[in-house]
Amino acid sequence: MNFELTEQQIAIQETARKFAEEELLPGVIERDESSEFPVEQFKKAGELGFIGLPYPKEYGGQGLGYMEYALAVEEISKIDASFGISYSVTTSLYGGSVWYSDATDEQKKAFLPEVLSGKVFGSFGLTEPNAGSDAGGCITTAVKDGDEYVLNGLKCFNTNGPLAKYTAVYALTEPEKKSKGLACFIVDRDAPGVRTGKIENKMGIRAAQVSEVILEDCRVPAFNKVGNDGNGFKTAMKALDCGRIGVAAQGLGIAEGAFERAVEYMKEREQFGKPIAKNQFLQFKMAELAIKIEAAKYMLYKAATDHDTGKSYGQSAAKAKYMCTNVAMEVTEWAVQFMGGNGYMREYHVERMMRDAKITQIYEGTNEIQQLIIGGALFR
Ligand code: CAA
Repeated sequence: MNFELTEQQIAIQETARKFAEEELLPGVIERDESSEFPVEQFKKAGELGFIGLPYPKEYGGQGLGYMEYALAVEEISKIDASFGISYSVTTSLYGGSVWYSDATDEQKKAFLPEVLSGKVFGSFGLTEPNAGSDAGGCITTAVKDGDEYVLNGLKCFNTNGPLAKYTAVYALTEPEKKSKGLACFIVDRDAPGVRTGKIENKMGIRAAQVSEVILEDCRVPAFNKVGNDGNGFKTAMKALDCGRIGVAAQGLGIAEGAFERAVEYMKEREQFGKPIAKNQFLQFKMAELAIKIEAAKYMLYKAATDHDTGKSYGQSAAKAKYMCTNVAMEVTEWAVQFMGGNGYMREYHVERMMRDAKITQIYEGTNEIQQLIIGGALFR
């Protein structure tokens, strides 16, 4: 296993860091308070090539891999995890829904380039009020009517929901077959019968826009059904395998961002006549967290490398997601604790990071679902 990043990967990492520091750090606290997404910055990320990093150039991508993409999500999430998830959902969950659906070349060319070049947002419509962890329990339907499908249902917790031009909607064309009757549809959000429902008021990732997507006799051209009837569930699972690499990178970035802020603070902050970093308990705890961050990092890079080298990566993605997001929660809690009263205050950033970390343990499959995936494979 090669532990060295290539020159190109280092360049991507540095560009992402600079982008996050210059474009996302200013206003990150205000956007968290006002729940406002930095749309212009997203477009800039598109111009820099970030959104399409792991897709071929002919579909609007950069022809690179998940390793490069993970590095970019990680750097960005050190500063703005809301941006990190919006980016990851667009690239992995929307992009993956088209890419892994057996879409035709014509469909890939119709539904990928605009999104992968960051001109518009994509979102992923799988979850429903009664189909969360049990994703196969969707009841949204799609009925063929001539050259169109008519979709009815409600998708919830849709990241980028209010911003998206395209949403990948998973709907039943054969309801009697339950999850084996799902197909994936690319719904243009200007289509008749689709609208944004309730916009969520969240604990964390407050700048990310998350909403319901309501389909009421929504008419979609038959061309927008990507992949075959019955393939939808597997397509969603494949997109989520990739999405979990993105969430792992987001979690790792949050952990590292909070850790770096805590280190700086502990060197500066003096109590009892010395910097608090001189206390052995605090040093030992920080050492333990440094070890966990490093372990999480290599698990993430392993999952990304498995993806890029054509190995099976569902397991390594689930493990990386579990590890990186639990480390994010642990590190951010300690960062707040070690920064004391200041850590609890908005302007020190780490309280936001702690709120942001929580959702990474929940979305794209709770960490208990990751355990189910990992445990299930052990005894298959
Ligand atoms: N890749 C390909 N195929 C897969 C697969 C994968 N990763 N996982 C399962 N499958 C296939 C199985 O092989 C099986 O195929 P056969 O019927 O041909 O044998 C079929 O799919 C059904 O598999 P299971 O019986 O394992 O399915 P299940 O109903 O028991 O569910 C689960 C498995 C892992 C629990 C799944 O439901 C799951 O991942 N749940 C979590 C859902 C999730 O992550 N939701 C997040 C939504 S997005 C979000 O969070 C919001 C956002 O915008 C950020």
